[in-house]
Parts: sequence; C-alpha cells; structure tokens
Amino acid sequence: MTIERTLSIIKPNAVEDGHIGDIMACFEREGLKIAAIRLTQLSKEKAEGFYIEHKERPFFGSLVNFMTSSPVVLMVLEGKDAVNRNRKIMGATNPAEAEEGSLRKLYARSLEANAVHGSDSLQSAEREISYFFEKGDIYS
Ligand code: CMP
Repeated sequence: MTIERTLSIIKPNAVEDGHIGDIMACFEREGLKIAAIRLTQLSKEKAEGFYIEHKERPFFGSLVNFMTSSPVVLMVLEGKDAVNRNRKIMGATNPAEAEEGSLRKLYARSLEANAVHGSDSLQSAEREISYFFEKGDIYS
C-alpha cells in the first residue's frame, strides 16, 4: 500500500471541548504521522472556498458560520492508505451512524459539529492540503 497524505481538521466544537490532544493521540496510535499542523481561526472567505462543493446545499451557510465560530486545528496526516484509514478512524459523517470508538462517536455534538473533517479521496486530499499548506510546511 502506498504512503498517502490527507487533510484533517479538528473542528471548533472539539477544540472548545478540549479534545485536541485526544484526537491527535488517536491518529498517532493508529500509525498516522502528523506531517503538518496549525491552530487557526478560519475567515468566512477561507471556509466558503474550502467547502465550495457544498455551496448549493441548504446547510452551507450554517456550516460556514460554525467553521468560523472559533479556532480549528489543520493537520496533514501521512501514512499507508492514509485517506481511507483516516475516514475509518473518524467514523460516519452523521455521528448517530458512526461506529463505537470512532472520533465522531466520541466527540461530535451534532451532524454539523461532528468534531473532525477528513478528505474523502486522494484527489480531494491534494486540493485540501494545498488549500491550507505550502509544500515547505509539510515534514515527512
Ligand atoms: P465534513 O466532513 O466536514 O463535510 C461537510 C460537512 O457539512 C459535514 O462534515 C458536516 O459537518 C456538515 N453537514 C451538515 N449537514 C450535513 C448533511 N445533511 N449532510 C452532510 N454534511 C452535513
């Protein structure tokens, strides 16, 4: 299996609830290396651009408000099959459907405030990583 990189975001609810360390520890325990990391508060423009594929969805405005409401942690995760493994660690988008022990089951407040974001494909990962990080910010 090839070494991949994927983008992970610890969302405002999980940062506010004090779960940055729990979530990072989970990735490291599962063998995903944190290759880049930044704590930041997203601007409206940055959040809208990130979620542009959802622009026509009814939840878009609320999602952008939530994602800009307080700081997030942006990370590049690196490892074998990182995109799919991160998705498994996060659990289903809707925490009500997420597996026991998954990050969303443990730390989500709602479908919107679902604790973490992760790239859904290798193609999305490339776009999302370069949306937030310069090549020189990423350490293998
Ligand atoms: P995320 O993985 O960041 O991708 C899009 C986000 O939109 C999703 O997690 C949720 O936080 C949010 N969202 C809100 N409502 C919905 C919905 N009905 N379906 C999918 N995503 C939703």
